[in-house]
Amino acid sequence: MSATILDGKELGRTIEKDLISRIDNLKKLGISPHLAVVIVGDDPASHVYVRNKEMACNRCGITSTRIDMSSKVTEIEILEIVKKLNLDDSIHGILVQSPLPSDIDESLIIDAISPNKDVDGFHKMNLGSLVQGNTSGLLPCTPAGIMKMLEMSGYQTSGKNALVIGRSRIVGMPISLLLAQRGIDSTVTISHSRTKNLPNICLQADLIIAAIGSADFVKPEWIKPGAMVIDVGINRISDSTRKSGYRLTGDVDPNAANIAGWISPVPGGVGPMTIAMLMSNTVLATEQSLR
Ligand code: GUN
Repeated sequence: MSATILDGKELGRTIEKDLISRIDNLKKLGISPHLAVVIVGDDPASHVYVRNKEMACNRCGITSTRIDMSSKVTEIEILEIVKKLNLDDSIHGILVQSPLPSDIDESLIIDAISPNKDVDGFHKMNLGSLVQGNTSGLLPCTPAGIMKMLEMSGYQTSGKNALVIGRSRIVGMPISLLLAQRGIDSTVTISHSRTKNLPNICLQADLIIAAIGSADFVKPEWIKPGAMVIDVGINRISDSTRKSGYRLTGDVDPNAANIAGWISPVPGGVGPMTIAMLMSNTVLATEQSLR
């Protein structure tokens, strides 16, 4: 039996379409949601992601401004740009694309963004709010997109054994909190690079969130038949048969689709959901700026 494929592109477009009426209401009040994206350096993958975010803004009618900075930029120069964007009332959302050059303290930059404009949901105040059980604010986009994907596919999370592979600040930790929250009620296990016996732990899981950043890491024989498998990985593998010279693959071996009940593809799964949630956060930040 083959798994049902969770089409993140289609689900993401549905979320974007649902935002249009809220954006129209804001425009009737003379306010156009406006996202500022800061990109530092010339990492090709980051440039692709930022272009995808700009295209999503175009589709939704959200204004976007892109600020390109050299990889030689200093922490102070980035902080100055963030400060300027914080003070600009016409900007409702600020995103600093990660990764930053290794000599820049990323947490320092993120925590300098006004929490009200932190559409990535990475600011310590927004993450702290989530830890306190408040899920109505600016949530990190990938975890929020995964939760939407589960909801839109009709998957019942209550009482399920959920295994999160990876403990990152951006995905692993926040998705663990979201899955364990009251009303979602999954029993969550967080695993990481030091976890022993991962294949056996995986086999117990009804729901797997693979966010470890290692190509084809989760093997088909680790999957419980019929499980829900969400693949968060986007790994670039060199492929000379492609014009680009690479192909994208996830953290889950694609043959897992023969065992799982549902699986999110890479590309076209969690990626478009993340972007749709960024659009949603930008609209929410704009609406909240009126209060
Ligand atoms: N780099 C990869 N994913 C993300 C994301 O969701 N937000 C930011 N700011 N940078 C990223």
